[in-house]
Amino acid sequence: LSKIEIKLADIPEGKNMTFKWRGKPLFVRHRTEKEIETEAGVNLAELRDPQHDKDRVVNPSWVIVIGVCTHLGCVPIANAGEFGGYYCPCHGSHYDASGRIRKGPAPLNLEVPYYEFPDDDTVVVG
Ligand code: FES
Repeated sequence: LSKIEIKLADIPEGKNMTFKWRGKPLFVRHRTEKEIETEAGVNLAELRDPQHDKDRVVNPSWVIVIGVCTHLGCVPIANAGEFGGYYCPCHGSHYDASGRIRKGPAPLNLEVPYYEFPDDDTVVVG
């Protein structure tokens, strides 16, 4: 299927759930207020692949990214690593809670797919 519909009520705040979409892992993360605040405040000058959090999300509560490390394609672990977002155990890449690369060998942020929210409780990716 080219699109996937996800019910947001199934994902509690602070949790990341992994779905399968077009043969790849898809991460849907329900961010906490603290995560939203932290990521909005990151200085772009500190980033390897500079992108403001607001350009990576549609609704700040939800981070939706492809769960494939931009180094060599392993699947990162959620809520791990030094920046509290994702950690790739293959060679030690640390991503923040916006999916931006912060430390380790990966060159780019986790990819944001096209998605929209048809209503408050639903996201459709693809
Ligand atoms: Fe993720 Fe190398 S594949 S750090």
